[in-house]
Amino acid sequence: MTKFTTKKANEYTENHKNKVDKKFYPKFNFAAPVGWINDPNGVVVYNDELHLFYQHYPYDSVHGPMHWGHAKTKDGLNWEDLEVALAPDEPYDKDGVFSGSAIEKDGRLYLMYTGHIGLDNGEIRQVQNIAFSDDGIHFEKYDNNPVISGDDVPEGSSIADFRDPKVFEKDGRYYAVIGSKTDDEKGQVLLYVSDDLLTWEFQSVILPYNKFLGDMVECPDLILFEEQDAFLLSAMNYTDKETGEYFPHISWLIEGKVDWDSHVFDINSVRKIDGGFDYYAPQTALSATNPNEYTAIAWQQGWNRTLPTHDRDHNWAGQMTVPRVLKEEKGQITQYPSPKLMNNISTVSEAQNIDLKKSYQSEFTADYIQFTMDSIDQLKLTLKNNAESIVVDFDRENQVIEFSRKETIEITDSDGKLFDDISYSISLEDTPWDVEIFIDRSSIQVFVNNYYTLTSTFYTENLLDKLVLESSTSGTISDVKIGNFWSEDEGD
Ligand code: FRU
Repeated sequence: MTKFTTKKANEYTENHKNKVDKKFYPKFNFAAPVGWINDPNGVVVYNDELHLFYQHYPYDSVHGPMHWGHAKTKDGLNWEDLEVALAPDEPYDKDGVFSGSAIEKDGRLYLMYTGHIGLDNGEIRQVQNIAFSDDGIHFEKYDNNPVISGDDVPEGSSIADFRDPKVFEKDGRYYAVIGSKTDDEKGQVLLYVSDDLLTWEFQSVILPYNKFLGDMVECPDLILFEEQDAFLLSAMNYTDKETGEYFPHISWLIEGKVDWDSHVFDINSVRKIDGGFDYYAPQTALSATNPNEYTAIAWQQGWNRTLPTHDRDHNWAGQMTVPRVLKEEKGQITQYPSPKLMNNISTVSEAQNIDLKKSYQSEFTADYIQFTMDSIDQLKLTLKNNAESIVVDFDRENQVIEFSRKETIEITDSDGKLFDDISYSISLEDTPWDVEIFIDRSSIQVFVNNYYTLTSTFYTENLLDKLVLESSTSGTISDVKIGNFWSEDEGD
């Protein structure tokens, strides 16, 4: 008898979701009804709704044998939980239904995911599998799984670390980019091709190793625009050679262009997708109406971090970011908070200009604040209560945004290293900064000029209900607007 099934997971969820302690639970970011989540999977527009599958272990607030949880939304804000879609119940995925993606073909929704297998000798194998559904809710695994296994991996590449297929269509053919590493521990991305989503062939090493790819690529996603293309991907064990700074996990946005003759991606530029503590494994869905637009959701959490919801037995852990829309504009990839989300904001305080000769203080119980820094070079924004606070410092002169969660519940890695302060260098000289900020119960997401973002969790004993704005220089911030999504009792 198999240990895990979707039936068992769904029964468990039904019986335990009311045991979740909601003290830190998000109001508008997506989180699981109960248990652990990590990467978003299978982000796809299906029948006019955005579907989100996710790495899920319902039975505890830690990573365990992975399932795929499932939810959908019309507006990126109100999420409807659906049944757990996949459980690790077959020999080819017995130790975890790892990350993957979704695509619609002839009305049928296909999922492509990694089966994680521990062999008796302690070695790992990772293979790629397919499941499908005609109602978008109940999934059947394909009889001939796996569809890509170690035999299809090119010479010199790992058959143990080979995961997270992201499938897409181009010119009537299907392609999957898959995270990989070479036998000598260098991250890379492989490309596979198929005509029917069931039979796959190796095509190329589409993104060969470069110094940003660390020793393994996870969750690669390739998005295609008119002028250029971009990889969103996460890399493990990357060290910045210039500063010596080491990142066990980091997510990059790599702009360039696929050469469809050689099937190799030519790189133009590389940047961190996000400058905060908690942004990993983003995945996109192609817009149903605009081939030049994608919606991205990321896991708003980092690996190897203490999690207050787990430490306090709240029975849930991990949340997602708000959906972002990625577009190509003037040769650059821009990131907007999803317009559907913005349509749901009701204004609490209309646009006003605030003169910061003296600091500004007000009560604050909102979800959203926006403003423009044009005449002012530096702004310190604090959200606080009597004992706790978070601070975002916008420094136009030094082209840096700094986030501090020092005065909140401590977050460390397993060695006790504190993660309480982070700075993000940006490059927006001689231009006003248009700032938008989303504040949820335990997270903040900052957008600057729809290009740079900073995303971080924070945990406070009590709500932060005061806003303080201060500046070391005098001047005005303009168009300050404060807004709310639905109030708690209206939410459904
Ligand atoms: C990234 C990741 C993926 C893997 C999944 C397992 O966060 O490690 O590479 O498929 O999580 O849960």
